[in-house]
Amino acid sequence: EEMLGTRRDLEGLTVAVSAGGTREPLDPVRYLGNRSSGRQGVAIAAAAAARGARVLLAAANVEDSVLAGAGPGVEVVTAGTAADLGAVMREAAERADVIVMAAAVADFRPVGVSQGKLTKEDGGLSAIQLVENEDILAGLAARRRAGQAIVGFAAETGHGDELLQRGRRKRRRKGADLLAINEVGWSKGFETADNHLVVIDSSDEVVADVAGSKRIVADALLDAVTAWRARAPL
Ligand code: CTP
Ligand code: CA
Repeated sequence: EEMLGTRRDLEGLTVAVSAGGTREPLDPVRYLGNRSSGRQGVAIAAAAAARGARVLLAAANVEDSVLAGAGPGVEVVTAGTAADLGAVMREAAERADVIVMAAAVADFRPVGVSQGKLTKEDGGLSAIQLVENEDILAGLAARRRAGQAIVGFAAETGHGDELLQRGRRKRRRKGADLLAINEVGWSKGFETADNHLVVIDSSDEVVADVAGSKRIVADALLDAVTAWRARAPL
């Protein structure tokens, strides 16, 4: 069996990975956020670097202890909100051969950010107005360069065929080349060491189905990317 980090099959490639979860501020003390720890995205960045890629990691609210798992070879840029992350990823996309959107991006943000803390007294908390965020992944896919591999994630509740069908619709909607479907639940997928991914391609085929540590899963996803690149019209 191959040791971790002995394959240098991504040498010469630039990989841009987003990880974590965006936070959309409401006022100076509150935000709309999600439970993504960034562990899976950080593991993908670490695996890509170990395989010889130049790696840019766009980290959205990833704890330092988790971020440390990326290792020394990874260039880290932090991004707090969906708008920040979109700007970082668009810039990274100009150089990247592979883009992996593992971050959980808030679908909506508060219409405005209050400069003062919202209070019950003022009634500002009972109805929060939201506006939809841009779809970063769909935008990157629409503007992709020839041969650039675009990988999305889909965290879904549910299972089996229903999960797969939802993933297929989502991949098509986004225009991603590969979509990694991740079953999540109250005690599944988040803040855990292990993960399970089903990866589909643009012909709706399952090209990987892997369970294990986030590093094992990361390497399997990168294997699916290199296989896609070998087939892609460059
Ligand atoms: N994504 C993105 N920009 C957004 C929302 C999502 O780039 N505004 C990316 C995520 O990083 C992920 C993929 O799109 O790679 C799928 O995210 P997901 O939340 O599962 O998809 P949505 O289209 O937002 O659908 P849902 O209504 O199920 O949340
Ligand atoms: Ca979403």
